Amino acid sequence: MRSVRQPPQRSHPKERPYAEEVNRARVAEPISDSTRVLPLELDRRYPVIVKGEGAWVEDADGRRYLDAMSGGSMAATLGHGRRDIVAAARAQAEKLAYVHNERLTNPAQERLAHELTTLAPEGFSRVRFVTGGAEANEMAIQLARRYHVARGEPQRWQVISPAQAYHGPTMATLALTGRPGLQRPFEPYLPRHPHIPPSTWRFDPTGQQALDALDRALEAAGPQTVSLYFCEPISAAALPAYTPPDLFWRGLAERRERHGFLIAFDEIVTGMGRTGYWFAAERVPVVPDIIAIAKGLGAGYAAIGALLCRTHVYDAIASGSRAFTLGHTWDGAPLACAVGLAVIDVLRKEGWIDHVRERGPRLRDQLADALRGIPMVKEVRGHGYLIGVEYVDPRDSVSFLPVDLRTAGRIDAVAFDRGLVTLSTMPTRDGFAGDQTLFAPPFTSTEGDLTEMVERFAGTIQQVASEVEARLSVVHA
Ligand SMILES: Cc1ncc(COP(=O)(O)O)c(C=O)c1O
Repeated sequence: MRSVRQPPQRSHPKERPYAEEVNRARVAEPISDSTRVLPLELDRRYPVIVKGEGAWVEDADGRRYLDAMSGGSMAATLGHGRRDIVAAARAQAEKLAYVHNERLTNPAQERLAHELTTLAPEGFSRVRFVTGGAEANEMAIQLARRYHVARGEPQRWQVISPAQAYHGPTMATLALTGRPGLQRPFEPYLPRHPHIPPSTWRFDPTGQQALDALDRALEAAGPQTVSLYFCEPISAAALPAYTPPDLFWRGLAERRERHGFLIAFDEIVTGMGRTGYWFAAERVPVVPDIIAIAKGLGAGYAAIGALLCRTHVYDAIASGSRAFTLGHTWDGAPLACAVGLAVIDVLRKEGWIDHVRERGPRLRDQLADALRGIPMVKEVRGHGYLIGVEYVDPRDSVSFLPVDLRTAGRIDAVAFDRGLVTLSTMPTRDGFAGDQTLFAPPFTSTEGDLTEMVERFAGTIQQVASEVEARLSVVHA
């Protein structure tokens, strides 16, 4: 008989009472040993966060952390514990929490769609609601496809996108990134779309090489088969606060004109104020045809996303099939839409987007000043409250840090020990990006919060930089 390797014997979580499980989760043991949740990473310890107020969250031991990542995912743009948004959600839930948009609509959905079309760049006239970022992005792919089919070009299906990107964890959105590490486990399911390299200072400071790569991708695919160019206008986690040079954007617009594909912007992170504008599309010299938003629309108080399109996209559907795709159960539900309305109300009345636009550059400068003189820090970039810190090998100030140092992971761990929530990105296997940190605090962070975040972060980077230098045997003159 073949011997089957047995997994190590561990007491089953079900055999322990809940309180004990939570307790165990607090100590330094991977949570996979003490939970019924299937965690994202089985070897990671997940602190149990029990409450939040403003830019602070608190764990089950009463330890408080400054949240420089808006809930960890950039969603909680208005901070934690907003009683007014909770009250709006409660009022809606008491009246009508749920109806399905397949056969019914509701005033909150109608009003929110109207509000978004008035806030979006000119010409965006229709909105479809979904429950999150990946769904909004997938629907953008579907909408572009339906647009071309309705116009008698059913051969158009391919999507060209930058390789160094993240657009969500579903099959269709994973296919939009060119990152081998994310794609490999799921490859059989992923359609192959062409990708182009990022125009960073390292590879292509003018944007010309990306345009050349775009031309090659169009040529190889056959321009008449291309449905969509898909990208973030300003990148979030994959290349924090990076945007291609104007030359690239203008060249992209010119190629859209010439070849007839559409442009969709993933504004899952940048939409609803993160860069100091309602939409980051206002900041780049090309008007997209479709915009997908999510995180800041619910601000962490409801799962909601949306797809916005310009009138010519809508018109193609209106004069074609007169139907657009299947929906999800929670799309346009009154409860989530009421939260979206309350979020817009707070953003407007309290002027948070103007605040982010005005305060953002100073926050970036504060960070840059605090990190000055640390050889590992190459660049601090920023658009509003979306700030990126890029690290290099201190021995030549150009190369990526050696991957085996795992610097990004170490930065987040040290920051967390210092009571600061950050998100750093590991180097990518295709070599387009090294270690970087994203800094994206809630818009509502107080001056004291921001100063404290910068101090804790600078202390973190100083500590990690000395560890890195010791491991690389850097000798200071
Ligand atoms: C730029 C970007 N697009 C899409 C997504 C996916 O959004 P969701 O996790 O809501 O599906 C994310 C999530 O982090 C994101 O950062």
